[in-house]
Amino acid sequence: MSGRLEGRVAVITGGASGIGLECARRFVAEGARAVLADRNPEMLIAAQTELGNAVVTEVIDVTSEADVERMVARAVSEFGTLDTAVNAAGFGGFGMIADHPVDEWRAVIETDLVGVMLSVKHEARVMREAGRGAIVNIASINARVPAEGMSAYCCAKAGVEMLTRCAAMELGPFGVRVAGIGPGFIDTPLTAFTQVVPAIRDAYVASTPLGRAGQPDDVADAVLFLVSDDGRWVSGDTLFVDGASMNKAYPELHKVAAP
Ligand SMILES: NC(=O)c1ccc[n+]([C@@H]2O[C@H](COP(=O)([O-])OP(=O)(O)OC[C@H]3O[C@@H](n4cnc5c(N)ncnc54)[C@H](O)[C@@H]3O)[C@@H](O)[C@H]2O)c1
Repeated sequence: MSGRLEGRVAVITGGASGIGLECARRFVAEGARAVLADRNPEMLIAAQTELGNAVVTEVIDVTSEADVERMVARAVSEFGTLDTAVNAAGFGGFGMIADHPVDEWRAVIETDLVGVMLSVKHEARVMREAGRGAIVNIASINARVPAEGMSAYCCAKAGVEMLTRCAAMELGPFGVRVAGIGPGFIDTPLTAFTQVVPAIRDAYVASTPLGRAGQPDDVADAVLFLVSDDGRWVSGDTLFVDGASMNKAYPELHKVAAP
C-alpha cells in the first residue's frame, strides 16, 4: 500500500535512529515529507543521505524549548505546514532508587517526559491553528509495567501516557488527535547492549508470548495506522505494541545482569 500520507508534513523527534528513523522510512514511502530532529548529527546525516529530498534535518535537544520551536518552524518554512508528529526521542538508564544520583534521574525525566511535553506544545500550536493534525507520543510498556532499577524511565513513560490523554482532551476540539504507542522490547541502538549480554535479551524474549524481539517496523506500522486516516477516531489512547509481553512479569534485569 502507498500514498496513505500523500502531501502530509511530519516532524519526528529521535528521527535519526531506531523507531523514529523507521517511522521516517514508512512515512516517506507513504508520500510524506518530514523534518527529522535529533541530537545526534552524524546519524541525521546518514538518514538524510538515505531518504533524500523528502526529509530535512535539525540537530535539536528536546529538552530545549528554543530547539523544539526551531524544529516546528522548519517544517512550516520548508514544507508549508505541519500535520503529523512523532515524538520518539528518548533514552533509558539504570539505577536503584536508594543509590540513584538525582541528576541522572532528572535527565531521564527531562528528555523522556518534559521533552515530549515541549514537542506536543509547539506541534499543537501549528496544528490548532490549521484545525487538523495527529501527534503520536512514543511511551513504553513501562508506562504501566514497573521495573526494578528503571524508576526514572517508568515514571517518565507513565507521564507520557497521561500527557497523551490530557493533550487529546485539550486539542480534540481543534481537530487534533493525540495518541501514544507503548512498545515492548524492540531491537534498536537503544537496546543494542543486549547483544553483548545475551542473558538480558533472552529474558526479554522469554517474557514475550509471541516469542521474539520486536523490530522497529513492528512499531512504525502501528504509528502509521495512528497518524493516517485509518486512525481517525483514535485519540487519547496508548496502543501497546509488545507481542503481549505486558501480560507477563517484566524481566528482573538486575538479577539477569549480575555477574
Ligand atoms: N527499543 C525499545 O525496546 C523501546 C521500548 C519501549 C519504548 N522505547 C522508546 O522508543 C523511543 C525511541 O527509542 P529507540 O529504541 O528507537 O532508541 P534509539 O536510541 O535508536 O533512538 C532514540 C533517538 O533519540 C535521540 N535522543 C535521545 N535524547 C534526545 C534528546 N534529548 N534530544 C533529541 N534527541 C534525543 C537519540 O539521539 C536517538 O537517535 C524512545 O522514547 C524509547 O524510550 C523503546
